[in-house]
Amino acid sequence: MMPPPGWPLLWLGLGLGSCAVLESAEQVNSTTDTLNVLLIIVDDLRPSLGCYGDKQVKSPNIDQLASHSLLFQNAFAQQAVCAPSRVSFLTGRRPDTTRLYDFNSYWRVHAGNFSTIPQYFKENGYVTMSVGKVFHPGISSNHSDDSPYSWSFPPYHPSSEKYENTKTCRGKDGELHANLICPVDMVDVPEGTLPDKQSTEQAIRLLEKMKRSARPFFLAVGYHKPHIPFRYPKEFQKLYPLENITLAPDPEVPDGLPAVAYNPWMDIRQREDVQALNISVPYGPIPVDFQRNIRQSYFASVSYLDTQVGHLLSTLDDLQLTNNTLVVFTSDHGWALGEHGEWAKYSNFDVTTRVPLMFYVPGRTASFPEAGEMLFPYLDPFDSVSHLMEAGRQTLDLVELVSLFPTLASLAGLRVPPPCPVPSFHVELCREGENLLKHFRSHDLEEDPELRGNPRESVAYSQYPRPADSPQWNSDKPSLKDIKIMGYSIRTVDYRYTVWVGFDPGEFLANFSDIHAGELYFVDSDPLQDHNIYNYSQHGEIPPSLMP
Ligand SMILES: *[C@@H]1O[C@H](CO)[C@@H](O)[C@H](O)[C@H]1NC(C)=O
Ligand SMILES: *[C@@H]1O[C@H](CO)[C@@H](O)[C@H](O)[C@H]1NC(C)=O
Ligand SMILES: *[C@@H]1O[C@H](CO)[C@@H](O)[C@H](O)[C@H]1NC(C)=O
Ligand SMILES: *[C@@H]1O[C@H](CO)[C@@H](O)[C@H](O)[C@H]1NC(C)=O
Ligand SMILES: *[C@@H]1O[C@H](CO)[C@@H](O)[C@H](O)[C@H]1NC(C)=O
Ligand SMILES: *[C@@H]1O[C@H](CO)[C@@H](O)[C@H](O)[C@H]1NC(C)=O
Ligand SMILES: *[C@@H]1O[C@H](CO)[C@@H](O)[C@H](O)[C@H]1NC(C)=O
Ligand SMILES: *[C@@H]1O[C@H](CO)[C@@H](O)[C@H](O)[C@H]1NC(C)=O
Repeated sequence: MMPPPGWPLLWLGLGLGSCAVLESAEQVNSTTDTLNVLLIIVDDLRPSLGCYGDKQVKSPNIDQLASHSLLFQNAFAQQAVCAPSRVSFLTGRRPDTTRLYDFNSYWRVHAGNFSTIPQYFKENGYVTMSVGKVFHPGISSNHSDDSPYSWSFPPYHPSSEKYENTKTCRGKDGELHANLICPVDMVDVPEGTLPDKQSTEQAIRLLEKMKRSARPFFLAVGYHKPHIPFRYPKEFQKLYPLENITLAPDPEVPDGLPAVAYNPWMDIRQREDVQALNISVPYGPIPVDFQRNIRQSYFASVSYLDTQVGHLLSTLDDLQLTNNTLVVFTSDHGWALGEHGEWAKYSNFDVTTRVPLMFYVPGRTASFPEAGEMLFPYLDPFDSVSHLMEAGRQTLDLVELVSLFPTLASLAGLRVPPPCPVPSFHVELCREGENLLKHFRSHDLEEDPELRGNPRESVAYSQYPRPADSPQWNSDKPSLKDIKIMGYSIRTVDYRYTVWVGFDPGEFLANFSDIHAGELYFVDSDPLQDHNIYNYSQHGEIPPSLMP
């Protein structure tokens, strides 16, 4: 593909670090070649996917998407919990700007009247549609998924969503329970369906409708699985025989971990099957057999999710939309499957902040499909032949979810919002993330380090609040008024560094002179983040075995 006219200027702009050149050069005219956008947001999905090198998980449809995409190996969420992460990346602002660290406020009232990604597309002539869990429900999106600002029509929510936390899991006693582990027989569940299946069906209906529309569309589809409870069609369990399920490589709470960094995963403890195990609070552990059950059901939920993604993407092919629809696939944050003795999000570790992130851009990450060519034929995860998938383009550079807004605008040919001033509470449209367009450059240029930029310079920030120095009942999800400590975390290609500092929730002020604890892990010598060397580093005595 020929690069569009403004590109040489763009590279020059990046080389000189000049934002002004970058902004103007990106104003590509979009008329007939306007790209539609399909944004797929998964709930609590860490990169346990074939395309991220996971040998165990069967995700052929997502892997197939990756094979035509640019995949970011090191993408990080800004806070590892649903509402703060979603509000952050959908507005393109960090949690310290949205001032949402919990579930209890609407940013337009509480922080600033910030534009959202779908709102921006809507204002630029797109029909914008929300299916399933895109914004977090409740007050954090004004009980309306930020309607009417973000969406052209009222958002769709699957009717069977209301059974997620009710007693629909058949236990060994034959009775129905509200369990964590919840493989179901589809003929047995209320309404005979599951939320993600309904969302896929609705998204397909909307795609069919939009096929006939003269206007471009922005369709966001938010899937519920693998969020707990693990409620999925039971046949998916067969993909993961229990005897083949391994435990986390580091299932113990690490010795040098400051207590403030640990979160006691209270939510899974409330499920009936977990309650019955009488697990000690806050550290556990969970019996080994049940650890295997959890991991099995998480992976089974991922494969079930993969089939939904497969049906959705094959519809793009069927409707001949594959050549003019940009597809983004990501998740709000990860989930610990026993690493560091934890079973949840709610932390600053890689395992909860790192997310899958990939972009399929027709003509850019893959050549335009020929008429009738199928890029996304549905693949059955039960068919082992379909698991051999060629990797697409990948980058190791560190990126942040907060960059999704400028990047999507740029890829769709819309004006990229200007960088935010500090502070920016009064500015409705600006970006705190980066335009990631430079990562999409063609191969020959990517090999030129001068033009490519230095990946070692890239940094991803995350943060997590705590109500106390030691784990307690609300350490996972403190309400704003209870926050006393904020863990600010920086991830570079070489290390993760976190400081837990005093925080005043009335003034939204962190006190960096009031350090409660610190963490430092080198990526090369301690990729799982089990050997905290913060104290050693303070005295300049890092053990040689942990040096990078
Ligand atoms: C883009 O549109 C503007 C205004 O409509 C026009 O002046 C300009 O020449 C166009 N640029 C390209 C590259 O087509
Ligand atoms: C907030 O932004 C929306 C969308 O642009 C606009 O309709 C509304 O009037 C704004 N509200 C305030 C209080 O500025
Ligand atoms: C939030 O929703 C309520 C009820 O629909 C509405 O009256 C209010 O204006 C909304 N808030 C904003 C900032 O739009
Ligand atoms: C389970 O492990 C055995 C032994 O390594 C292997 O032969 C078998 O294929 C595995 N089953 C699955 C479904 O991965
Ligand atoms: C690190 O130093 C702090 C403050 O002196 C101390 O409370 C903590 O126990 C030390 N941690 C480790 C792992 O040695
Ligand atoms: C639960 O565990 C505690 C100690 O961890 C023990 O004292 C108690 O008897 C146990 N309860 C049951 C019902 O097993
Ligand atoms: C996409 O494919 C359809 C059907 O083959 C064709 O009509 C349309 O012109 C193509 N659009 C682009 C942007 O290539
Ligand atoms: C910040 O913390 C330091 C050390 O605890 C303390 O002396 C100082 O008063 C704090 N500053 C504010 C503004 O609270």
